Amino acid sequence: MTAAKLIIDKKREGRALGSAEIRDFVNGFTAGEIPDCQMSALAMAICCRGMTVRETADLTDVMMRSGASIDWKGVVDRPVADKHSTGGVGDKLSFVIQPLAAACGLAVPSLVGRGLGLTGGTADKLESIPGYKVSLSIDELKRVVADTGLAMATQTAEIAPADRKLYALRDVTGTVASIPLITASILSKKLAEGAETIVFDVKCGRGAFMKDQAEAHALAESLVSGVRAAGRRAAALVTDMDAPLGFAVGNACEVEEALAMLSPGAESGPLAGIVGLSVEFAALMVSLARGVPLDDARAECRARLGDGSALAKFREMVAAQGGDLDAFARLVARPKVKYRIQSMRSGYVESIDAERVARVALSLGAGRWQPGDRIDHLAGVRLAVGRGDKVSIGSPLATLENSSDPDALERAAAELLKAFTVSPTPPEAKPLVIERIG
Ligand code: URA
Repeated sequence: MTAAKLIIDKKREGRALGSAEIRDFVNGFTAGEIPDCQMSALAMAICCRGMTVRETADLTDVMMRSGASIDWKGVVDRPVADKHSTGGVGDKLSFVIQPLAAACGLAVPSLVGRGLGLTGGTADKLESIPGYKVSLSIDELKRVVADTGLAMATQTAEIAPADRKLYALRDVTGTVASIPLITASILSKKLAEGAETIVFDVKCGRGAFMKDQAEAHALAESLVSGVRAAGRRAAALVTDMDAPLGFAVGNACEVEEALAMLSPGAESGPLAGIVGLSVEFAALMVSLARGVPLDDARAECRARLGDGSALAKFREMVAAQGGDLDAFARLVARPKVKYRIQSMRSGYVESIDAERVARVALSLGAGRWQPGDRIDHLAGVRLAVGRGDKVSIGSPLATLENSSDPDALERAAAELLKAFTVSPTPPEAKPLVIERIG
């Protein structure tokens, strides 16, 4: 215990910890020999004092080694790659990027998370598909990836247990917002997953963890250098998260929108912006994993999206994990309670505040305030307009919906209206990709 206290003191004074100190502390905490109070104190000292690139790599390594790592040798003979998003509002891009990369010949074993707080969780969205088994053992994950080239499942108990234990503490001790801790947490799981190429979508803006570009840039650099320190390939795009991505924010409605994004022709319709962004990410994965020029990878991704191969890959994965997309179609067609909000002004939609939209979706039942809260998979917000669209007084702006609670819709409607800013002149166009790192 004395050694643990000295390590906490050292970090509190702003000094770099040695590799053995980091290893012994984390291993002691995982084994239950170092109590939660000391781990929390060290996490707070790291939050306040930061860590060097080497310390972050050491922390990542010991957290990754706290559990199993997946070995893909002999299971798949294609490059293994994945994409990780730091989380956004309406972020259903994984349902397009991962199948698209798999359709281009990569093996994609994607470990996905649940939503807590404002950003939605890919695992919760997938569970809106009746029968979909989101929790797989490592052997099941291997079988699905070997059969289809793609799996999307939650972190198994065997992967990075140190992270699971530490994250639960960080959540209640105000120590989530730390670049070294976020980096080690994300990378310990992603590296254990066995991907040789990892591409990051670091979200930046009102609906993201990282509110400004300097913070998002620093996190992107930290993630990319952490993967490279482990001898693997990585790149990151910092992307705009001020407005929700696409028109649907919720669970089932996002899967429905993703199916539309995967459908041939979507690249030129109203979803063109986020389909284009998905192509960009998939192309980056293909280019890095296979060592082909980015332009060639882009062309291949567009072709696999256009000929329906990416959609077929998504359907194949859903079936392999027990999901029934016919039952899903019946579910989303079920009557829901709805409430429509309209514009009170004429002009152009200047902004749609992603954070406010996320709060509204959460209040309708689409997310959790506490771990363990029940989700209404049919709850959510469907935007009727996007940034830059022209509206008149009375034009529909959005619909709030859920399974059976009309009072919640009415209560949230005024709040949702505040998410929209309508101005007399069209806003300047804003690219979704802010910068590339790596
Ligand atoms: N996601 C993670 O997995 N860990 C963090 O610390 C933050 C986001």
